[in-house]
Amino acid sequence: MSQNYKIINLEETESTNLYLKNLIQEKHIDECMVVKTDLQTKGRGQMGNSWISERGKNLLFSFIIYPKYILANEQFVISEMVSLALSKVLSGYVEDIKIKWPNDIYWRDKKIAGVLIENNLIGKSIDSSIIGIGLNVNQEIFPEFLLNPVSLKIITNENYDRNILLIQFMDEFCKLYKNLISIDWLSLKENYMKELYRSDGFYWFEDLGGRFLAKIINVMPSGHIIMQANGEEELRTYAFKEISFVNSI
Ligand code: BTN
Repeated sequence: MSQNYKIINLEETESTNLYLKNLIQEKHIDECMVVKTDLQTKGRGQMGNSWISERGKNLLFSFIIYPKYILANEQFVISEMVSLALSKVLSGYVEDIKIKWPNDIYWRDKKIAGVLIENNLIGKSIDSSIIGIGLNVNQEIFPEFLLNPVSLKIITNENYDRNILLIQFMDEFCKLYKNLISIDWLSLKENYMKELYRSDGFYWFEDLGGRFLAKIINVMPSGHIIMQANGEEELRTYAFKEISFVNSI
């Protein structure tokens, strides 16, 4: 059942995450109110990267939640809900959708969506969380310097209504979020692990020490990934930024 969401539509803005961040300084914003735009002039990605998207082609939006009962050291549950909701919606359109740790959405070996979650901590808990999503929908040509982008249009050769995708995502996310107080978080983690990209065996990864063959064992509530390197007994633990997936070798 679809809910009515308050949506601020912007023709153009620097970044919907930034817009929302500024807005909450001015007034109270309801949970799950959405800011979306056709074009970001300074779209922000993870690790200080930028997020590039052709005007009017893709879904670029942010919304806010106030999950004060989630502790900072269990904040990864937000990533789990966002990426599971995205993968559920996209799997309704195409096969082979996976979640690449921590929260990229992949179709086969290509990135179809990115997520930027900016948490504001007060003490040990999360006062507010701005969740920004860039989903490649109808864009057909991407700049060459982007490594492996893909869109729904490239995969299926069809155009999609971005507003329908937005509502489908919000419905899926809100369903998970509303139940978060009452459900067992382990089941969320299990579902996340089931959808995880390259979690089915040994693959090449890279850290500061170089490349190594390893298997993903688990992802912790803090978001750290646990790996078993080939031939090593002791498990390795990495934070985001400390390890990368090697594409082809
Ligand atoms: C990534 O690097 O994968 C995360 C990309 C997140 C992009 C979205 S687009 C809407 C929202 N506003 C931003 O500036 N970034 C996020």
